[in-house]
Amino acid sequence: MRICILGATGLVGRETITLIARAWPGATLALFASRDQELTLDGKSYEVLGASRLEAQDAPRGDLAFVALDDDHSKRYVPRLVELGYRVIDKSNTYRADPKVPLVVAGVNSSIVDDSVRLVANPNCTTIPLMLALSPLRREFGLSAVTVSTYQAVSGAGIAALDSFLADARDGFQALDRLGLPFKPSGYAGNTVPHNGGTDESGFSSEERKLIFESRKILSMPELGVSAQCCRVGVAVGHYENAWVTFDRPVDLERVAGILGDPAKSPFVKHLPGAAGEGLSALHCVQDRDLALVGRIRPDHRDRDRKSVCLTVVGDNLRLGAATNAVRAATRWFPSADRDLQAP
Ligand SMILES: NC(=O)c1ccc[n+]([C@@H]2O[C@H](COP(=O)([O-])OP(=O)(O)OC[C@H]3O[C@@H](n4cnc5c(N)ncnc54)[C@H](OP(=O)(O)O)[C@@H]3O)[C@@H](O)[C@H]2O)c1
Repeated sequence: MRICILGATGLVGRETITLIARAWPGATLALFASRDQELTLDGKSYEVLGASRLEAQDAPRGDLAFVALDDDHSKRYVPRLVELGYRVIDKSNTYRADPKVPLVVAGVNSSIVDDSVRLVANPNCTTIPLMLALSPLRREFGLSAVTVSTYQAVSGAGIAALDSFLADARDGFQALDRLGLPFKPSGYAGNTVPHNGGTDESGFSSEERKLIFESRKILSMPELGVSAQCCRVGVAVGHYENAWVTFDRPVDLERVAGILGDPAKSPFVKHLPGAAGEGLSALHCVQDRDLALVGRIRPDHRDRDRKSVCLTVVGDNLRLGAATNAVRAATRWFPSADRDLQAP
């Protein structure tokens, strides 16, 4: 089996290399990035080629490709990979809204990936954990409306943003200033900022619009009432989301715990009982990288019909929110040697 990764040197590409060794040990890897270079990862050295080589007439054909590039480069290379015979999982935003391209969360709607599918879009890193938590509850109680507020890690913005955040944090915290004034007011270090890229006339950022649109597409509920407000916080990895969810029917919290605690009903979810949120933090999810941590489930007392709950979902944005979901989606075509990575 020949697998290629585009964007292999980036944050998501590197995680994908590690997961491929678990899912398909023995596969031949072909790695691509902006230019020819060598990548050292976990003490191993890999040859990486410039992606433009894939445009050559004699470019190698293969079985499976993971694309972890920005939108413009995905647009450039995905059609070429399909032409070369690869089945492709694209992690950018480019194909998510395309009605012909399945938008897949493994364990939620991955059964739509069959042999006839050649290209799958991987959803946004906040959408994936939220869908893993809501989809099993929706089956039991019906889903009526979702309001979500996100606290997203800096690594979601890529390796360059993460590295400059780490340097700014190291310098800024060294000053021990009790107001945090050494930090830049619109920077990520020591700060909370709106996720404000691509804000359109609706007033919502592109991140907020993605979460809304993608939830409706994945759940096949085009009319679902969803609203989102997204922030970035000064955290390296781990997206944290607080949601207010209204179901069609009254919710019994014991049944909720039973559903979320059952891997057959709620794949890739780790339910943390109790309202206090013990074990539920951005850094906890980096220790459980391939699961959505779900907890703090309690009634929203504004709703006298007892159909609404508040809950928290946390997921590693590089793994569960990106590389792991992509690998799991591809296991529908090529079964995984590691059962934890196999999509149902
Ligand atoms: N980070 C996350 O949490 C996350 C989560 C979900 C989805 N995603 C999506 O996944 C994609 C990758 O994100 P990332 O965070 O891994 O980005 P990243 O760390 O910034 O890495 C970007 C990758 O793109 C490559 N690249 C840049 N210019 C290129 C060119 N001209 N031709 C070919 N390759 C080029 C880079 O190679 P060089 O090293 O050679 O520059 C690098 O491998 C994005 O679409 C992002 O939105 C990211």
